[in-house]
Amino acid sequence: MKYDSITEVIGDTPLVRVAPEVHGLRNIDLYAKMEMLNPFGSVKDRPAWNMARAGLAAAVERGDSIVELSSGNTAKALAVIAAMNGLPFKSVTNRMKVPEIKDLLLLLGAQIEELPGQTECLDPTDTEDPLTRMYRMLSEEGSGYLHTDQYFNPLNMDAHHGGTGPEIIKDLDGRGPDHFIACVGTAGSSSGVAAALRENNPGVDIVGLVANKSDFIPGIRNIDEVNEVGLFDPNTYDTIESVTAQEAIDGMLTLNRRCGMLGGPTGGAAYFGAVRYLKTIDESLTERKTAVFIVCDRVESYMSYVRQRRPELLNQPARANSVASLTETEVAAAKTVDVAQARQWIAESRPLIVDLRGSFAYAALHIEDSVNIVDELFDELVHGGLPFGASKPVLLVCPVGEKSARYAALLTRMGHKDVRSLRGGVVAWRDASAPLVRD
Ligand SMILES: Cc1ncc(COP(=O)(O)O)c(C=O)c1O
Repeated sequence: MKYDSITEVIGDTPLVRVAPEVHGLRNIDLYAKMEMLNPFGSVKDRPAWNMARAGLAAAVERGDSIVELSSGNTAKALAVIAAMNGLPFKSVTNRMKVPEIKDLLLLLGAQIEELPGQTECLDPTDTEDPLTRMYRMLSEEGSGYLHTDQYFNPLNMDAHHGGTGPEIIKDLDGRGPDHFIACVGTAGSSSGVAAALRENNPGVDIVGLVANKSDFIPGIRNIDEVNEVGLFDPNTYDTIESVTAQEAIDGMLTLNRRCGMLGGPTGGAAYFGAVRYLKTIDESLTERKTAVFIVCDRVESYMSYVRQRRPELLNQPARANSVASLTETEVAAAKTVDVAQARQWIAESRPLIVDLRGSFAYAALHIEDSVNIVDELFDELVHGGLPFGASKPVLLVCPVGEKSARYAALLTRMGHKDVRSLRGGVVAWRDASAPLVRD
């Protein structure tokens, strides 16, 4: 196999059968579409190249920068493509959550611009997401940017409609699978493959997987966010199910250790979600069926992710005082206060107010006299024990009141006497027109 350019190596990834003794399904042949074997390492190589290639010559002529709202695999692929063509690449993102990918982007010469999300509530009079404003600016004619626009660009989906989907059908000797299971990020891969499979077999069953509420699986949306994605159409999927971060890691371990497939957490989520979903169908089958899931990228980029959630896998002691260990009952029992109650409590008892949002959002506006300890840092602090006296009243504040409730539950378990979470977070505070200050 000889090629003139690495971009020609994108696509034509193998379809590999998972051994029945691993998945335990008796009547279903389960195959992994190995998108992790694309040259830049993921399923996003295809759309990145498909979205960028048409505008590349003009961008080189004008000296434009390639820009994308991505902190993960799309950014990685575009950073390589930009660098190969001598163009700058800028990744615009809410928060860079995977340190290995951030480092790799920097290594590739990318610029990273981190912006707060809407729920972090930058400006109380502004209901528009800073990313949305940025997005509009990027798309203006003559902006100096080649904006690949993965959340709305049909070329994202087309890369899979014309590539990934037909490859699966070809490898299954012309008859597409009965079930297709994929994680949903921009929804490009699942929708594109689904369209190709439906043209081949209108009866194909399409399962979309998202992260469980308040769980983070890098690269995909959670159940609350999925409707916000431009390319997402609920009619694409026969079923949408959620997978927890722990289940994704379990699935990943099976792929890594038992199948020799070095896929990352979304590959693991897809495997776990596929087997869980197919088990119930398998039991009543009387004929053989075929199912395919996608292994999106490789495990190596997720060591910090694994270390945080399953330190024992990396020979490290279990993390003490972790929110991941809370039960839903503990979270539900956390003390919360609405805005009016919080204001009264602040006036009477002067609790320490801890704002868990990102520093950008805090710097823009916050509750007077609050201190900013961004959630990742707070997480580190509580591993070492209570970061303040057990009797000092504490009000925890986050964007919408979900994270703060979890930390309130954790601190309560750790012996704190009076910690409360602001219900609805800074967004509720803003909506109640309670005062916010800027230093
Ligand atoms: C690791 C990983 N898995 C899965 C996906 C989902 O792909 P899509 O954007 O096509 O829905 C992404 C998307 O960025 C990803 O980075």
